[in-house]
Amino acid sequence: MIKFDPHHYYLQSVQSPDHDAELLADMYRTHSDKKLIQQGLLLREDFAGTAALCFEWVKLNSKHSAIGLDIDKKALAWGDKFYAKQSKKGDYARVELKAMDVLHAHKVKADLICALNFSYFFLKQRQDILKYFKEVRAALKPEGLFILDAFGGPEYMTPSEDKRRSADGSFTFWWVVERYDAITSEIDCRIDFQVKGETLRRKGVFRYHWRLWGLRELCDILQEAGFKKLHFWAEGLDKKGHGNGRFKEVQSEENCQAWLTYIVAQS
Ligand SMILES: C[S@@+](CC[C@H](N)C(=O)[O-])C[C@H]1O[C@@H](n2cnc3c(N)ncnc32)[C@H](O)[C@@H]1O
Repeated sequence: MIKFDPHHYYLQSVQSPDHDAELLADMYRTHSDKKLIQQGLLLREDFAGTAALCFEWVKLNSKHSAIGLDIDKKALAWGDKFYAKQSKKGDYARVELKAMDVLHAHKVKADLICALNFSYFFLKQRQDILKYFKEVRAALKPEGLFILDAFGGPEYMTPSEDKRRSADGSFTFWWVVERYDAITSEIDCRIDFQVKGETLRRKGVFRYHWRLWGLRELCDILQEAGFKKLHFWAEGLDKKGHGNGRFKEVQSEENCQAWLTYIVAQS
C-alpha cells in the first residue's frame, strides 16, 4: 500500500496555486504600477507551507522571484523536493525558502506579500495581528501590495461539513467546522480525506484553531497599521449560487451562506 502523503492530498484538494499566482498578477496589474511587472516582481509568501504559490509565481515570468516563509521545516522540505522535480531549473533557482516565524521581521523588501488560505487567522488577539500587519507594511516596497484572504458566512458559524470529490476522482475530502464560538469568534476546523477504494476516513489530517476575523475588523486593523487603500476581490457565482472560482473587484458583497474574499492593501 502506498504511504498516505498529507501534503499531496492538501495540494490536490484545497489549493490552486497556479490560479492564485495569476490572480495575484492580475491584482498587481489593477492596483499598482503595471510597468514594474516587466522588470519582475518579488513575492513573499507568508505561511507558505509547501510554498506551492512561490513555485507557480516564478513560472509566470522569468524575472519573477519568490521567498516562502513557514515555521514548519518539513512542509518546506516537501515543497522543495516536489518542485525541484516539477520545475524548470531556472525557475526553481528563483525561489528561496526560509524556516522562520513570520512574526519576526524579514528584511528583504517585497513587491507583494501574501497570507493565503486564512493562515493569519491563528493570530487571535488584536494586538498580535496589528503587529503582524505593521511588520508586513514595513517589508513592502513603496508600490507594494499585501494580499490576504478571508472567509465567512452563516455556514461557517455553525457545525457543518462540506464534502467534495477531488478533480481526478481518486479521493473524497471534507472541510469540517467543528465549533464556532459566538463570543470569542474562535472556530475549530479540520480537513478529512478518504482515498478511493479505502473504507477509512482519515479525520483531522489538518486541524485549525482560528479566530474567524470579520472583513470590517480586518480593515480597521489594516488601516491602523498604516495601509491607506483597501480593495476587495470576491468570487463570482454560478447559476446555482455556488462560487465559480473567478474573482473580480467589488465594492460591497452579499453575506451568502459561505463567502471567500481577498483584501488587497496598499500604503
Ligand atoms: C493553512 S496552512 C497554509 C499553507 C499554504 N500557504 C496554503 O495556501 O494553503 C498554514 C501554514 O502556516 C504555518 N504557520 C503557522 N504559524 C506560523 C508562523 N508564526 N510563522 C510561519 N508559519 C506559520 C503552518 O506551519 C502552516 O504551514
